[in-house]
Amino acid sequence: MDAYPIKKCLFPAAGYGTRFLPATKAMPKEMLPLVTKPLIQYGVEEAMSAGITGMAIVTGRGKRAIEDHFDISYELEHQIAGSDTESLLESTREIIERCSFSYTRQNEMLGLGHAILVGESLIGDEPFAVVLADDFCLAEQDSVLSQMVALYEKHRCCIIAIEEVPMEQVSRYGVIAGCEESPGLYRVDSLVEKPEQDVAPSNLAIIGRYILTPDIFDAIRATPPGRNGEIQLTDALQTLASQGKVLGYCFEGRRFDCGSVDGYIEATNELYQRSLA
Ligand code: G1P
Repeated sequence: MDAYPIKKCLFPAAGYGTRFLPATKAMPKEMLPLVTKPLIQYGVEEAMSAGITGMAIVTGRGKRAIEDHFDISYELEHQIAGSDTESLLESTREIIERCSFSYTRQNEMLGLGHAILVGESLIGDEPFAVVLADDFCLAEQDSVLSQMVALYEKHRCCIIAIEEVPMEQVSRYGVIAGCEESPGLYRVDSLVEKPEQDVAPSNLAIIGRYILTPDIFDAIRATPPGRNGEIQLTDALQTLASQGKVLGYCFEGRRFDCGSVDGYIEATNELYQRSLA
């Protein structure tokens, strides 16, 4: 068996980040920092912690800073060589040395499912992870993605991260229903994207971490536009769930919604406090 069954991680990163305007007018939302490190770097580090070294990023217009971030800046390196600030670049250097990056552009905003499909050319015919960088996850031991890769090794099917949320918040998320096979692990039988509270099948919300098998691409191709007229990953997963091929996993750790200002500030405070400890 492969030491690491999942080799690539897809990062859909083409969205506009309108909730952070004007900060995101000329800067990708994925480059917003938590303290001093951009959100997408935390996602890449989480993928690395799960043994993944192939980073596949779906970008869009105005996102070139992401590519520059994961590349060597010779001028900067030269400028800070031997100074106190040199150590601040260490984490990025390590990533650049250990990982490979590939990019493609989503030139129309047709939804998360569509973004994943655009990434197919970077992934090919193999299982892969997906990280939505604006869901920032902190775990005390194994990272959320490592926990999910370990589950994938055992079950060899799609794994989606889920979390209980207050019922009045379910309309912000994809929501699952299923049967709890073991504590915190659900065999998913239905999924709904952003349901109204009164029709939500549960309060188990999908969080931005997925392990997907490559049959998801055909499922997305066959999925008509859903909520907001967009092609939803949640709807495509329903096809695989109907075949018993999707597990929902209540991960260990804490997730911050850094797509919202409140969650972003909370994550910033948490990391800042930890940096002082
Ligand atoms: C996406 C997914 C949704 C999921 C959420 C997690 O929605 O479509 O199912 O619950 O990410 O953050 P978005 O937040 O991009 O609208």
